[in-house]
Order: sequence, then structure tokens, then C-alpha cells
Amino acid sequence: MKINPVLILDFGSQVTQLIARRIRECGFYSLIVPATLDFEKIKEHNPPAIILSGGPASVIDETQAIHADKRILEMGIPIFGICYGQQWMVHSLGGVVEAGQSREFGKSFIDINTQEALLPQAWEKGTKHQVWMSHGDHVAKLPKGFEVIAASSGAPFAFIGNRDKNFYAVQFHPEVVHTPDGAELIKGFLTQCAGLIPNWSVHGFKEQAIGQIRKQVGTGKVICGLSGGVDSSVVARLLHEAIGDQLTCIFVDTGLLRLGEGEQVERLFKEHFKIRLVHVRAEQEFLSALSGVSDPEQKRKIIGGLFIDIFEREANKIGDVDYLAQGTLYPDVIESVAVHGDAAVTIKSHHNVGGLPERMKLKLVEPVRMLFKDEVRALGRELGLDEAFIKRHPFPGPGLAIRIPGEITKEKCDILRKADAVYLDALHKAGLYDAIWQAFAVLLPVQTVGVMGDGRSYEYVCGLRAVTSVDGMTAEAYPFDAHFLTDVATRIINEVHGVNRVVYDITSKPPATIEWE
Ligand code: XMP
Repeated sequence: MKINPVLILDFGSQVTQLIARRIRECGFYSLIVPATLDFEKIKEHNPPAIILSGGPASVIDETQAIHADKRILEMGIPIFGICYGQQWMVHSLGGVVEAGQSREFGKSFIDINTQEALLPQAWEKGTKHQVWMSHGDHVAKLPKGFEVIAASSGAPFAFIGNRDKNFYAVQFHPEVVHTPDGAELIKGFLTQCAGLIPNWSVHGFKEQAIGQIRKQVGTGKVICGLSGGVDSSVVARLLHEAIGDQLTCIFVDTGLLRLGEGEQVERLFKEHFKIRLVHVRAEQEFLSALSGVSDPEQKRKIIGGLFIDIFEREANKIGDVDYLAQGTLYPDVIESVAVHGDAAVTIKSHHNVGGLPERMKLKLVEPVRMLFKDEVRALGRELGLDEAFIKRHPFPGPGLAIRIPGEITKEKCDILRKADAVYLDALHKAGLYDAIWQAFAVLLPVQTVGVMGDGRSYEYVCGLRAVTSVDGMTAEAYPFDAHFLTDVATRIINEVHGVNRVVYDITSKPPATIEWE
């Protein structure tokens, strides 16, 4: 059954994706489209409600204003405007928007003036609630038919509505966590104003996706590159449910993986899920290609290129392959408006099995391309992948190669693998693993002097990294208790031959990056 999406018209806000996530978390399917999308295309989606996002432009500055097609205001469907979305709605319906003297940014409090069906339960008339503001312009005069629902000291039109038309609009951002009841407000709009009944769940998605995969692929053969990460694993499981043995997974063991990773993938996918799996043991090939190479970018290039060559070679051995399955996610394919004057549409595109050669002529199957990462994790649970696997920290494509500054050797990889495993085990035992976004060990290309027993040692330094982050773009070092760190250091030195000193990296990103290379 086709579900008509709640359509989010994106005016270029940094947090538009959060609107889509909040809506989906409330149980409604949502899609983001550029605010400038052709009116006919908007109608084709047949949306039961529209949300107008925020955006950095000014609606009263014609050199930079971004306009949606005004005919959406005559479709008779409920519309909710956020920040720029509010200003565009007001401006388009004959109200007045003015430039502010200064920007209002941060926490603010609104006073509720009226009783409305869409308001969260706690938002009774006369009460005060925290919201998050981030705007320059503001509404100065309401269009006909609108009333003030809530005001703050800095924004007399913080929340406005026209009950007859089912149009509501806010100056603040209900989609961010700093507006604590924001998700409930969005839900209130969708259920009370648009009269929608929740119809979106990962379970429903799975059933629908299986049907779609069968329809797309028919009797064709599909290959899927397994990396050991969540996205490709979920895609493999989903495809296997849909088309069984028409799927073959290819797992390239580069010799740069964590301890036991190859065996884990083999056990889970081949033995447990009974998926056809080609396990390519390519450690030798990768190590000899990397021999004598120290430059980080060189390493990445060599590993990426060789990975593709090996993948293609194995695909050719399978023969007559029609499709390549990829774990492309929704944030990689969202089209959004290009702000700063240019009304053209930019398309962000990203392929997980980066740049497979065109000559392979494979058609793509991307069954999770409409899902956010947290939805992919939920789908993984639905498909029987266990929690420990789903909550695994991210691991970079080039693997341990970018955690061994300088030249890579098998000896160094083996030392690092062991140290990393001890560190992760200690994190699990201390109950800290899930509180950390990414943690790993690095092996430094220096040896230092130590004393072990009665003797002198001269061995490598192991660096430990642990960061908290939301998306990997910025990060903070995790503030471990000193006892935890000294215990891990002792364990690593006792259990791993080749390391006699352990250091903890306390740098944020920026200025550092998360990985050492
Ligand atoms: P940085 O080191 O740039 O890392 O702060 C941010 C996130 O990206 C991962 N990372 C990579 N992932 N190929 C990948 O697939 C790469 O070359 C690569 N470099 C960094 C890193 O592990 C972190 O999660």
C-alpha cells in the first residue's frame, strides 16, 4: 500500500532533516523536497499535510528570498510553517514581515494565550514553555484570519494560527531537542489538525521493501558488498528475505580489520543466516600494495582502488550479475534548495561501495535509501541482527591502515588488533561502550624504553581514543575516570606483546580529527 508522505518543503535550514525524523518518530511517513519544487510534482505526492522548514534567507529581500509555489496555500490541506516557513506563509498571505534589529538565538519562553487542540497536553492557556529561537526577521502584522496562540517577550507572534484554513506557524524550532515538547507539537498538528492516523513503522517498511525488491529484481542476480557495518548488513539481510539465493554477498577481508571480524561475518551471515557469501582473504594483496607507503592519502587511494579491483574480480567469477545492492541512506539522497541566491537544486549523492567502475554495468538496488540511520538500526533489529552488532561503533573503510601512522606491517596490524580488542573489552565490561560514539586504539610509529620485570624493554606506544559526537563532524574526548585508564593501560601492556606504553588522546575535533590519519 502506498503511503502518502507528509511533505516538508525545505527552505535550506540546517535542521530540516530533524523535522523529517520527528515526524517519522511520531509514526508518519515524511519526505523532504526543495521548497521550489514544481507545483505539479507537489500534487503528485498527494500530501495529507505540508510543513514549511526554516531557512537562512530573508523573505523580504527579493535578491535572496526563496519562494514556494503559492498555490500550495489553496490546496485545502493543513500547513505548518517553521521560522522562515512562518515568514513565507505570512508574507504570501498578505501579512508583514520585518527585519529584526538583531538576531534572536537560543532558549526562549513562550506564554500560551489560547486553548488549541494541537498543543501538547502541558501547554494550557496561561502556562509558559521553553522553545528554541534562531531568527533575524520576524512577523510584524498577521494576515487576515490569523490569531496569536503564543508569544514570547522578543516575539509577539511566536505561534500563530488560522483555524478555518488549518494553517499554523511558529517562529521557534519545534524540531530541535531544545524545544522539549516540540515533537509533541508536531504530532498534535498531524493528528488534531490534519486528522492523520499513524501509518509508518519499520515493520511496515520491511514488508513493503521486500515486495519492491522482488518487483525490481525479478529473477536477476544481485551482489552486495558486506563491510561488517550496520548499513550493508541490514541491506544483505533484507535482500536475502526478499530474494534468497539470488543474492551473493562479497566480503573482502583486507587484513586491516579488527580482531575476529572476518570470522564473525562468516558465522553470522553464512552459518546463521545462510546467505551465500564469498569471503575473500586478501590480506597479502593489501599488505604488499601498502608496503613502504606512509602517506595517509596514498594509503586511502591504494586501499580504495584495490578493494574495487578485488570486488570486480569476484563479481566476474559469480557471472551474469545484474544488480549491485548498496546501503545508501536518506541523508545521502535528499535534494535541497541551494541557498544564497541560486534557485538551482543541488543533489547530494554518495555511494557506499565508492566508485565501482562504470564498465561493470550493474543496476543499483538501494532498499534503505529512504531511511535515516536510526531507522536502519531499527530495521536491523526487525531482521534479527543482534543489539551488540547494531550498536557497534563506526569503523572506517581503510580500517587499521589509518590507525597505524607510518608504514604498515602485518606485525603492527596484529599488535594493534590485540590492543584494540583489550580496550573495547574493557569498555564493555565497564558499561561505557554505549555512552561513547567511537573508541579505538592506534599504534604509534615510535618505540620507547620501559622496564618490565628486571629487564629493559623497547616497544611501541599505543594511543587510545574515545569520543562523544552526534555525527562525527565535531567530537569531544570522553572524560574517563583515571582509574579506568590506568587499568586499561595495565591490561594492554600485560596482554599485548610489543606495547610498553599507553597514552590517551584528549583532543577535540576540531582541531584534531577523530582518526589519527
Ligand atoms: P575523522 O577522522 O575525519 O573521522 O574525524 C570522522 C568519521 O569518519 C570515519 N572515517 C572514515 N570512514 N573512510 C571511511 O569509510 C575513510 O577514509 C574515513 N576516514 C575517517 C571515522 O572513523 C569517523 O567515524
